[in-house]
Amino acid sequence: MTSPAPVLTIDGPSGAGKGTVSQRLSEKLQWHYLDSGALYRVLAVAAGRVGLGVEHESQLGQLAASMQVEFRPNRDDLVRVLLDGEDVSGLIRTEACGNKASELAALPQVRSGLLDLQHRMRTLPGLVADGRDMGTVVFPDAVVKIFLTASPEIRAQRRHKQLMEKGLDVNLPRLISEIRERDLRDAGRAVSPLRPAEDAFQLDSSCLDIGAVVDQIMRRLREGHALKS
Ligand code: DC
Repeated sequence: MTSPAPVLTIDGPSGAGKGTVSQRLSEKLQWHYLDSGALYRVLAVAAGRVGLGVEHESQLGQLAASMQVEFRPNRDDLVRVLLDGEDVSGLIRTEACGNKASELAALPQVRSGLLDLQHRMRTLPGLVADGRDMGTVVFPDAVVKIFLTASPEIRAQRRHKQLMEKGLDVNLPRLISEIRERDLRDAGRAVSPLRPAEDAFQLDSSCLDIGAVVDQIMRRLREGHALKS
């Protein structure tokens, strides 16, 4: 029997740097990349289009299981996200979409509806999986599990900078309180709450740059004998 493709999981709250770190690692390792948060965001877009809200849990679960989502690397280095063939990359990155995704993510049938899609992305030579429950629920047998955090203030400042670069002026104190609110909802929900797996390495990125975080994770992978060299 062939062994399944190795998985590196990177969990943690929004804004800890998981996306950038995971994409860098997937390039370095030449492994596939799963942005599981994007799946919840795509579902928020799809649900909005057919008028489904949190009160329609079973239909949302069915929608989650039947959506065709594709991640396609682009020339500008950004991964494009396609929903049933349509590029929804811009639509899923708004604050409103993130908040709706967080509400839908609290529903057990939504989470189980998305499981299969996530498991199918585990293919050779390996997968870098970024999310909240990658190490605890979706890939409990991952070779290395990382829980990446940073203080809410630092995470809000990073988000603020990104939004300003896009020409969007947002209020920093409001961002901090939205981040705190979302953390509470993600950590307090009954299913797959945001928490580190027992065997996860916890890394605080508040005072580390991306390169230093990537180096530490590469070291963990070598120590865990997940890499050939
Ligand atoms: O990482 P993100 O901000 O794109 O995620 C959007 C929302 O989806 C976030 O509020 C929590 C939820 N999520 C989740 O519950 N489980 C995951 N594995 C990934 C994201």
